[in-house]
Amino acid sequence: METLETIKTRRSVNYFESGKQIPVDKIKEIIGLANLAPSSFNLQPWEVVLVTDPERKKALRKCAFNQPKVEEASAMLIVIANPGAVEENVDRVLADWVKKGYMKEADVEKQRGTPFGLYGERASETRKIFAVKNAAFFAMNFMIAAKGMGYETHPMDGFNAAEVKREFGIPDDRIIPLLIAVGHLRPDQKLLPRAFRRDVDDFLRMNGYAKG
Ligand SMILES: Cc1cc2nc3c(=O)[nH]c(=O)nc-3n(C[C@H](O)[C@H](O)[C@H](O)COP(=O)(O)O)c2cc1C
Repeated sequence: METLETIKTRRSVNYFESGKQIPVDKIKEIIGLANLAPSSFNLQPWEVVLVTDPERKKALRKCAFNQPKVEEASAMLIVIANPGAVEENVDRVLADWVKKGYMKEADVEKQRGTPFGLYGERASETRKIFAVKNAAFFAMNFMIAAKGMGYETHPMDGFNAAEVKREFGIPDDRIIPLLIAVGHLRPDQKLLPRAFRRDVDDFLRMNGYAKG
């Protein structure tokens, strides 16, 4: 599907065709496209738990205030933000940049300090914001790519993060910005018109907020 059309027609779909699967390879392909999202210092602080097993979807539904779409969707993604991605990925990011000619080997030591300065200590608020911000880009890319490939999605933050972590063995230091349901629109359901959006002029501040 053409890019602008994909953006215009993506909707948060509430009713999925229960039992209609998407092959795991296809979902992995979409995840691969989402993985092309830009990220701070290319540190890619996202992880995903892909839930396809009916029993596991049922368990996830219990953690998500019993929202039926969790079980009805072909699959659920638990999108995870990893504040530790700076420590985990900085060296391979730099090595790749050197290899591809983005920077010189001699600058690696100096550059290595940059993300630690920008994104703070591992347990800091700054680091959490870094991780969540980038995981959100990944999530949006996933929803656009899924729509482009003919599937529907629904982003969700109606869940108990502590319960999801416990149920799916997600380490304590991770953050779960959202879940994403992916699947097929139930054929007997017609989408309601898209929910309102503010006019651009409601939130656009040209060259700064007005003083006074
Ligand atoms: C981060 C995030 C969390 C959301 N959580 C829920 C949710 O838990 N349950 C739900 O029914 N909709 C949820 N929504 C969907 C929004 O209500 C929906 O995107 C919005 O009404 C606009 O509709 P549209 O996506 O079809 O344009 C969420 C959306 C986002 C971006």
